[in-house]
Amino acid sequence: MNNSIYLIGFMGSGKSTIGKEIAEATNFTWVDLDHYIEKEQDIKIKELFEHYGENYFRSLEANALKVLIPQKKLVVSTGGGVIVTPESVEILKKQRTVYLKLDFETLYQRVVHDLDRPLVKSYQQLLDLYTAREKLYESACSSILYGEGKSVQDITEEIISKMEEKDENSSY
Ligand code: S3P
Repeated sequence: MNNSIYLIGFMGSGKSTIGKEIAEATNFTWVDLDHYIEKEQDIKIKELFEHYGENYFRSLEANALKVLIPQKKLVVSTGGGVIVTPESVEILKKQRTVYLKLDFETLYQRVVHDLDRPLVKSYQQLLDLYTAREKLYESACSSILYGEGKSVQDITEEIISKMEEKDENSSY
């Protein structure tokens, strides 16, 4: 089980929480793409958006992804918007990429009060973003994990058993 795993999904879908758990259970190295960028640029994502704009952030995000791709045994928790960059979708399509899918209402409740997420503005704006992105998550992933009603532990175990299955079939 050497191949890295990439977690994608909307803000609040648990990519970081689950990613950390998978890494602990498999001895893979956990990388949170947002933290990676913040560390590399020495600035918070929110400030990056404010001072340099979303497009600049997207180019950093795509570059960070490219740096990580050759590395084995990583669990990469991506940012929710990684799939808006077509180049990143093409990259993710070739990896073991799991889409953590949850209902919009659940995601909304999780992120509505988070002041650190620059793209959380209003209910309608977030719903539009979710609707526009659903197909992109689906097109970038190799499997979808519907997490509604499941615990972090359930989801982690489900993903790990899929990783083992896929390794046996060596389809990546
Ligand atoms: C974003 C999601 C954030 C972060 C940035 C943009 C998005 O990551 O990358 O605020 O466009 O959905 P999380 O999904 O971890 O909140």
